[in-house]
This record gives sequence, C-alpha cells and structure tokens, in this order.
Amino acid sequence: MATTDARKTTPADITSAAVASFDGCANPRLRELMQSLVRHLHAFAGEVSLTEEEWREMIAVLTATGEITDARRQEFILWSDALGLSMLVDALAHELPPGATESTVLGPFYVPGSPQREYGESMVLEPGAGVPALVYGRVLDGSGTPIPGAELDVWQNGADMLYAVQRPEAEEDHLRGRYLTRDDGTYAFVAVRPVPYPIPDDGPVGRMLAATGRHPWRPAHIHMIVRAPGYKTVTTHIFDSTSKYLDSDTVFAVKPSLVRNFVERSADDPERAAGVEGEWVSLQNDIVLAPGEDRVAVVDPGRTA
Ligand SMILES: [Fe+2]
Repeated sequence: MATTDARKTTPADITSAAVASFDGCANPRLRELMQSLVRHLHAFAGEVSLTEEEWREMIAVLTATGEITDARRQEFILWSDALGLSMLVDALAHELPPGATESTVLGPFYVPGSPQREYGESMVLEPGAGVPALVYGRVLDGSGTPIPGAELDVWQNGADMLYAVQRPEAEEDHLRGRYLTRDDGTYAFVAVRPVPYPIPDDGPVGRMLAATGRHPWRPAHIHMIVRAPGYKTVTTHIFDSTSKYLDSDTVFAVKPSLVRNFVERSADDPERAAGVEGEWVSLQNDIVLAPGEDRVAVVDPGRTA
C-alpha cells in the first residue's frame, strides 16, 4: 500500500502553494507583484473569514463593474478612487520637494487634446455655465523664477455639476483649454466657479457607497495638468475654500495646500475680463514645479459619463 500523508491541508499550505506557483516567473517585478497580491488577498480572506456567499458577491460586483465599463465610463477607476488607491499610488509616485505644488487625482473626466487658448481667453462656450471666474497666477520654479512657456491643461464642470464629456449634446471644448505662460511666467483664463458634484453613483461603486453609508460627493474644484520642459508634470486641482465636502471628498483627493479663496467681485469692477457680465469671482493661484523629467505621459484613462 502506498504511503499517504495523513496531515490535513491548512489554509497556510494553500497560500504557500499559490505563492510558490510564481517562483519560476522570469520577470522579477511581475513575480513580486503576483506573489504579494496572493499573500495579501489570502490574508484578507483569512482575516475576515470570508464566506462562500461573500466570495460569490465579490465576483458579482467585479462582473457588474466590467459590464458597466465602456469607452465613456470607467468603473474600475471609480473603485480605485473611492477606495483611496488612486491617491495612494499618486503619493507613492510623486515625491516632491517642499514648496512644489502637490499632485492629486486625474479623475475620470480628462480628455486629451483640449484647444490651445490665448492668455486670458474664456473657456466658457455655453451661456448659463456658472459664475464667471478669472483664474490667474504664475508658474514658478522652486526658487521663485518664472517659467515661460509652461502649459496649463485645464478642465472643470459647470453649474449643472457636469463635465462637457458627460453631455453628448455639449460643445466638445466647453470648460476646457490649454494655456501657455507668458515670458514673465504669468497665465490667466476665464472659467466658472466650480460646484460640488457626485461621482457617478448608479453602478457598483454607488451601491457600495450607499450600502456603507458613504456619500458620493466631491468638493468644488478645477482640474489642471501643468507641464514644462525640464520639470516634472503635475496633475492637480484647485479647491474652493468655501465648498462643502472638503473634509469628506469621496475620492480622498483634498490636500490643504491646494485649497484657494475665490474673491467675489462686483459687476462694475474695472478688472473685469472682456465678455464677463454681472457678478464674478477671481482666483489667484501660483504653481511651483519641481525640476525633473516626466517618467510617463498622461493618458486618457477612459471616461465616466
Ligand atoms: Fe473633477
């Protein structure tokens, strides 16, 4: 009779076998990623004593996430954002010197290829988009020297809480544009005062937020990516200091250094930009870039309509 091992197979044996299955992976980074993933995934299941029913539910959630994702909606990024992973990866990737403008999430509404606009030009293409906001400042290096020719790639939502990419009928270039700094490092553009908005919450992420008692709201912000040769590209936001949800952004993107004061201005203010009528606001915002080169180009992550 053949000898058999009467010892019971333990959970630890299963984890060890799954980890060891990647020992022969020729790519050391891929091996590290897969083995660590298995260890942490198994540790999670063990820690919570994951039930078979909960395991089936997890599979159903992942399946629904794939099904709702298409060219205009990226539910996987929403999961990453809502679980704080996007901000963590961002923090790990961008170690910046003190004083440099901090980065934050790209978010799902970035669309590459915004039109190049002139200094001071409005990116508001539709009436009723919101309270006009003159945004201006300088792009500087760490010693305060202006950086000419830096590009600010800007996008934001309107008073209806939506980005143009979320509305098929919208002017494609509404509330987005690329601006260059002048020789003295200054930039200016006309936008609208941003408003808080909920992340798309009609899918699996929204159901998770509801089930766990979390709200889907983000505080009011304007997005920008700032690029200049010889400097690290920074993907960031400007947050409105008066906005709701600054202390509970559903994607954890608020950093105190990115919060700014919008100044309320009257209709007859002589500094009013051309084309701006009625009440308006202004916002001064300098950006400090860290020296270096980009490691990766920003890519369109897919959109969430
Ligand atoms: Fe946003």
